[in-house]
Amino acid sequence: MGLTLVYEAGQTPLHDDEKNGIKIPAITTRGELDEHEQRNIEEALRWTIERRRAYKPEEILSEGFIKKLHFRMFGNVWGWAGSFRNTNKNLGVDKYLISTELRMLLDDCKYWIANQTFTDDEIAIRFKHRIVSIHCFANGNGRHSRLMADILIEKIFKKEVFSWGSANFVKAGDDRKAYLAALHEADRANYKSLIKFARS
Ligand SMILES: Nc1ncnc2c1ncn2[C@@H]1O[C@H](COP(=O)(O)OP(=O)(O)OP(=O)(O)O)[C@@H](O)[C@H]1O
Ligand SMILES: [Mg+2]
Repeated sequence: MGLTLVYEAGQTPLHDDEKNGIKIPAITTRGELDEHEQRNIEEALRWTIERRRAYKPEEILSEGFIKKLHFRMFGNVWGWAGSFRNTNKNLGVDKYLISTELRMLLDDCKYWIANQTFTDDEIAIRFKHRIVSIHCFANGNGRHSRLMADILIEKIFKKEVFSWGSANFVKAGDDRKAYLAALHEADRANYKSLIKFARS
């Protein structure tokens, strides 16, 4: 018994003790898990994007907010939601470096905003790519990073949220391939394709 999961390309597998963090024992398949996570994420959207409230950059760009957002997205489903991972993954920095790397990213991003170092879209997308590369959490980093980019673009830059290829690219398919190819280009410090994908 328990949860049996099949992973799409570019997803980070869960360790057994992370799987045991499931809060709803009735979930046994990927389909059921996706559904519960999606419903939980919709609550997080109501708490952020859909709320008409002003945010200061330093409020969003803090370790507290990063964790709280992950908790709001996955807290109904996973016991470890909102806590940094304590295992190492095929992607991401060593588990002991998460806080430090995140602090550097938050400081860099505040500097980019204050100095308009890049276009608004590029700042949000660079942030998205760096945070998913740090991989703060056991799972949900992709979705969390995309929502962070949406929050930055809408709450700080007052622009329309990203469309992320519009279709449901979480499933394997052309959109997911395009997304992963764009991430690989971003790994080589070329953000054009990822920005284009986010606005497609
Ligand atoms: N080479 C890479 N460089 C940067 N980021 C990557 C790379 N490969 C995968 N990723 C990111 O890691 C995510 C997978 O991490 P994780 O499983 O924690 O997130 P998720 O939210 O569960 O997945 P998804 O984003 O597929 O919904 C991918 O979606 C992608 O955003
Ligand atoms: Mg995943």
